[in-house]
Amino acid sequence: MRKDAALIDELEALEGEALRAIEAARDEGDLEGVRVTFLGRKEGRISLLLRRLGELPNELRPEAGQEANRVKGVVQGALEQRRGELEGPSREAAPVEDLSLPGRRNWIGGRHPITRVVDEICAIFRTLGFTRVRGPEAETEWYNFVALNTPLDHPAADEQDTLYLKGGHLLRSHTSPVQIRIMETHEPPIRIVVPGMVYRRDTYDATHAPAFAQIEGLAVDEGITFVDFKATLAEFSRRFWGPGTQVRFRPSFFPFTEPSAEVDVKRIHTFPDGTTRESDWLEIMGAGMVDPAVLENAGYDPERFTGFAFGMGPGRIAMLKYGIPDIRHFYDGDVRFHRQFAGP
Ligand code: DAH
Repeated sequence: MRKDAALIDELEALEGEALRAIEAARDEGDLEGVRVTFLGRKEGRISLLLRRLGELPNELRPEAGQEANRVKGVVQGALEQRRGELEGPSREAAPVEDLSLPGRRNWIGGRHPITRVVDEICAIFRTLGFTRVRGPEAETEWYNFVALNTPLDHPAADEQDTLYLKGGHLLRSHTSPVQIRIMETHEPPIRIVVPGMVYRRDTYDATHAPAFAQIEGLAVDEGITFVDFKATLAEFSRRFWGPGTQVRFRPSFFPFTEPSAEVDVKRIHTFPDGTTRESDWLEIMGAGMVDPAVLENAGYDPERFTGFAFGMGPGRIAMLKYGIPDIRHFYDGDVRFHRQFAGP
């Protein structure tokens, strides 16, 4: 047998042996052993063979040399690949992405439950001809109290103690001052709803927050009567709380209305199986006929114009509507709470 042929056979046999050993390797350590056995610089079996190339006659060396390099390359490549496999699933082995799956959408939030209730209430009043307007949160004592027929030493002013700012301003304790601001700048007929934040010196507990939302309402024109007042608020209540809702006007007192009332509703809950249950009477707003002194303070002639006003807390209404037991859930910013109201 020619010397080169014998060498090439030996090389091929070694190649097969090396590839089987690589295949059988179970970890990095095994692989390193295989590498040293076959490719180790000094004692590696392929290295030793390569060294024997020198024994060949000159004309046979190139072919044997090429073959030796090929085997060396194949064994190195196989070592690399096996190392990759042992490190983790290779790209080919990874599960193919299912491109037909719908994308995972980022949660971009939803409207705050109080905002939902505000929007819903304003939308109902819009169909009754009321425009949504706003007013400043930093007010003066005149707009917040005095113009609303509430002298500063009146007990009603005490109940609405608030934070005072520099320059004679205070944080409004209710949205009622916007009644005056709108009447000052607009001629009747007036029909407005005024959502906004108000502030009071109240302890933060399950039913109170020092900053909370209100919605004010005001209608002023020639010839507005108590019938318009009752009918409008009863209609609103039934639309908001659902058909079958009973509405009750309870005599009350506010300095800026005369007569004044608290409006209560009794809801009918309908369960999924069709059975129904009546709620207790729930107080949902304060209201009344605008006091002539207020019309006068706003520059209207109380002999000519009359009107009605109302004020409600959409936070309280949201609690009743959604069965929320603690007002602080609205303000704590816990995403688990807010996710329940996700959606447009
Ligand atoms: N401003 C009152 C409050 O914050 C609520 C209110 C009651 C507003 C009666 C009104 C009204 O316009 O007529 O307690």
